[in-house]
Amino acid sequence: MKKEFKIPQRKPLMIDMGRIEEILQEIDLTGEPPQDEHVRQYYFIKKNRMLTDALKAERGRELTFHVNTFGCQMNAKDSEKLSGILLASGFTETEEEDADFVLFNTCTVRDNADQRVFGRLGRISHYKKRNKDMKIGICGCMMQEASNVEKIRKSYPFVDLIFGTHNLYRFAEYLCEILSGDQKVVQIWDKTDQVVEDLPSDRKFSFKAGVNISFGCNNFCTYCIVPYVRGRERSRDAREILQECEQLVRDGVSEIMLLGQNVNSYGHDLEDGISFPELLEEAARIPGLRRLRFMTPHPKDFSEELIQVIKRNPNVTRHIHLPLQSGSTRIIQRMNRHYTKEQYIALVDHIREEIPDAAITTDIIVGFPGETPQDVDDTIDVIRRAAFDNAFTFIYSIRRGTPAAGWEQVPEDQKKVQFDRVLKEVQESARRQSEKLQGKVMTGLVEEVNSQTEGYVTARLSNNMIVHVPGDASMIGSFYPIHLEECRGFYYFGTICEDRT
Ligand code: 5AD
Ligand code: SF4
Repeated sequence: MKKEFKIPQRKPLMIDMGRIEEILQEIDLTGEPPQDEHVRQYYFIKKNRMLTDALKAERGRELTFHVNTFGCQMNAKDSEKLSGILLASGFTETEEEDADFVLFNTCTVRDNADQRVFGRLGRISHYKKRNKDMKIGICGCMMQEASNVEKIRKSYPFVDLIFGTHNLYRFAEYLCEILSGDQKVVQIWDKTDQVVEDLPSDRKFSFKAGVNISFGCNNFCTYCIVPYVRGRERSRDAREILQECEQLVRDGVSEIMLLGQNVNSYGHDLEDGISFPELLEEAARIPGLRRLRFMTPHPKDFSEELIQVIKRNPNVTRHIHLPLQSGSTRIIQRMNRHYTKEQYIALVDHIREEIPDAAITTDIIVGFPGETPQDVDDTIDVIRRAAFDNAFTFIYSIRRGTPAAGWEQVPEDQKKVQFDRVLKEVQESARRQSEKLQGKVMTGLVEEVNSQTEGYVTARLSNNMIVHVPGDASMIGSFYPIHLEECRGFYYFGTICEDRT
């Protein structure tokens, strides 16, 4: 008799690797693959386990995998899910790119991200010549563009598996197909309304984790490819988000980052959904959660309620990333961003008044179609008045299919000149802001051993600033009071003051 599947269909906890064995024992492989997506993927994970066991016996060694991640925090989070499925399927992770299975999780937000992927794919073909059994997969945002899929099929025929962002949760099933035979698998979907919960996830850090709160974006900024490759906004159920956070804290995580393309519009698509400030406050109340971050808010929806929630919850980190994109009202409007230069400055001033210890960082694009040097003067004016603590500055990159791609472009040499002006301004602002912290003692969470300076570890402060301090691997994941001694632009060298906090 077929055993009943014991795992509830809407069990909202994230599955840790230890519990996977328990779940797999409940799966019956004698029948057809189940229809329920969640159970179905575990069915394929179990099948993969059998296939990898056979391959390991045949080759007399472990089977290795390597996931190569490009792009943002969302992709890093997706890669943890992909790695989780590979581990559960019987693979072992390796740092090396010449693994038995190599997966590229791609980004397409700017052209240089695309180019880096093609460059890496070219290099990896050499490994496949040496190891004929090697399998190569490619997934993520780039694959949602038909031209990229075509290019890979034509110019990189050694790629075995191609899938996109909407069907990532089917990865175990696709893996099963390529492990079972020599056929290629290409599966790209236009959209999905599914949010499949509870698949394995291999967290990269034991002490910090990202938690998706929504997928996709409805804003359609005219330069941006994200709404096309990630689809319309879909919010996760608040209970599932909060239970995932609670589970992470029980597992020893002390810092959580809530992730969405526009976190402020969280819940708008849900019936009876709670708002983002409400969700943030609920999460901040989880006992034992020492730090709560969120990424990314949109200035147009940054509400007073959100400012007050941050202000009254000291475990919500003192860091607000508030993408400006341009300081010129004319350009901001052409970007379809729905705020003016003055509104942005007023918002920053208000945040600084209410939460004076919060660092404010931003993203800026230079060379958007129609941008003149006078528009860049406005951007520089905002950088000075907002006194950004740090900023990512990008040269505008044409994204096919977006409105701005068809507009008259700024000449490359002009883009470069203006980019250098903005970069210089941003660097000076970051230095001025960072220097204000000289001599202070602030709490840092040690994240990793410093690869550049021997005998040092790298910690992150609540305001997102990085500090390098003398130490060793035993400190990773713990909080320490750190004396900020030597400012190096946007980061510090410091020392631990006393015993662990
Ligand atoms: N060109 C340059 N930068 C871009 N970004 C998004 N799309 C483009 C583009 N076409 C930048 C924005 C965004 C960040 C994640 O990437 O600044 O905030
Ligand atoms: Fe892109 Fe704008 Fe959505 Fe951000 S808010 S993902 S920049 S469309």
